[in-house]
Amino acid sequence: SFMQKLTGIADLADKLKKQLKISDVIVVPLDSDTAVTVKNQIGKEAARLLEMNFTGETKVAVTGGSTMAAIAKELKGEKAYPSLQFIAARGGLGEDVLHQANTIASAFAEKTGGSFKTLYLPDHLSEEAYAMMMKEPLIKEMMDLYEQTDLVVHGIGNAEELALRRQSTAEEVQMITEGGAVSEAFGYYFDAEGNVVYRIRSAGIQLEQVQKAPNIIAVAGGHSKAKAILSYFKNAPERTVLVTDEGAATEVLKLI
Ligand code: G3H
Repeated sequence: SFMQKLTGIADLADKLKKQLKISDVIVVPLDSDTAVTVKNQIGKEAARLLEMNFTGETKVAVTGGSTMAAIAKELKGEKAYPSLQFIAARGGLGEDVLHQANTIASAFAEKTGGSFKTLYLPDHLSEEAYAMMMKEPLIKEMMDLYEQTDLVVHGIGNAEELALRRQSTAEEVQMITEGGAVSEAFGYYFDAEGNVVYRIRSAGIQLEQVQKAPNIIAVAGGHSKAKAILSYFKNAPERTVLVTDEGAATEVLKLI
């Protein structure tokens, strides 16, 4: 019955929350790998959760990805929060425009009435270019904002898929595969134990800055992301709230 299904989902969320040792898990029915509308449901749940966290002058760092884009679509367009500030968590230009952190930050701001800060930098800088960029006042300003982040909202991806999607260099792909990368979040690649094995050489939020943010919301669904979710949460901050789907949740619990 419908009620049994709801209880099943709540039970799944509870089990996952205990296994991943995080403060909360929200599970939406079905699997976004097999039904396209499920990602929108993840977006909707995350949007409602976010709106509860929108108070005063909250600084919100956002990453890219299609799940993040789904949140932007589901935010209420009432422009009710003019003092919010959305900050692109990375300068990534390696992805589809619609799925870049910059685009997501501006979409969140458009819906909520807040302001936004973007950072247009390639995903793969040379060492020299990276060192020079870091001295630029504009980049320094972004780094200060990352330091003051109240809330981080990020996706989690499969390492290999992300490396390919971002048109990484052969050298980067090698670093990622040889390092045993399983998951990716905010430009960092993590192995099965949740250790960082690689970081994209572009300006962006630092892992330490994510880890000390007072509020963190992660969004990722689909059974194909189970290994990535498990890998990322080996070492993720306990106060993270994960919004996922039944497909991913069931598969993660099978892997444990
Ligand atoms: O950082 C994680 C990935 O960007 C997730 O992307 O939501 O499109 O799977 P996705």
